[in-house]
Amino acid sequence: MTSLQKSDAPAAGSAVVCRNLTRFFGAVRALHQVSLSINRGEIVCLVGDNGAGKSTLVKILSGTLAPDDGRIEIDGRDYRRYDMREAQRLGIQTVHQHLALCDKLSAAENIVLGREPGRFRFGPIEVFDRARAREIAEQSLKAVSATIPNIDLPVEKLSGGQRQAIAIARAVNAADRMVIFDEPTAALGIKQTAATLDAIRKVADTGLAALVIMHNLDDVYEIADRIIALRLGFVVADVPRSGMSRSELAARMSGHD
Ligand SMILES: Nc1ncnc2c1ncn2[C@@H]1O[C@H](COP(=O)(O)OP(=O)(O)O)[C@@H](O)[C@H]1O
Ligand SMILES: [Mg+2]
Repeated sequence: MTSLQKSDAPAAGSAVVCRNLTRFFGAVRALHQVSLSINRGEIVCLVGDNGAGKSTLVKILSGTLAPDDGRIEIDGRDYRRYDMREAQRLGIQTVHQHLALCDKLSAAENIVLGREPGRFRFGPIEVFDRARAREIAEQSLKAVSATIPNIDLPVEKLSGGQRQAIAIARAVNAADRMVIFDEPTAALGIKQTAATLDAIRKVADTGLAALVIMHNLDDVYEIADRIIALRLGFVVADVPRSGMSRSELAARMSGHD
């Protein structure tokens, strides 16, 4: 499925619902009965101080960590846990903070990686359709408003912002439910941050849910449709962007409310 076809997907309804997710590490309760839902077409920013449980929640949703208790509901089906492969099958992709791009491969190759279009088969060998791959890459980049001057260059030659755009385009091409962003703007300058926020908006506009871990509250208030705050493993706020002031959000996050 290409990114362009996704705009036909229903933009309403919940992509993922978490019910009472709990996870311990030894005696540390990283998540305590966390219940939340993330809707298609919606940008949910996940905030909280260090140790709040953000990474733990994202790892559970991306299939790299199992909860001790609770359920994840997707399309009316309950999952006690799922692994990374199943998460991808369910249409969930993660843009990791340390971008998992293959430096020696081109932008186009990175974007279709793992989902390479085949042209024809010689017995067990499927011949990679380079023209189709470039087309999908161009479409995916366009879907997130990114321009890469030369999509045939190895990505090691590109800037941090361009690499970020490729990682997002890759996730959009592969996802058909939700894209999770792990601090996508943490390492970027002002201009690249603006481009990344714009790309995240475009991801949601295709009808995908976007779950974004973000530290900078300026960025949060610029982009979030909804803000969910965690503190010591508890959900301490779950509000539309206009539903809580920055100072109150900061107070909730730090426990000084
Ligand atoms: N693999 C782990 N082993 C032990 N403790 C962990 C592990 N991962 C997270 N924790 C603990 O769980 C709590 C939540 O961590 P985390 O989800 O990383 O929070 P955040 O991403 O919001 O900073 C913290 O107290 C952290 O030390
Ligand atoms: Mg973390």
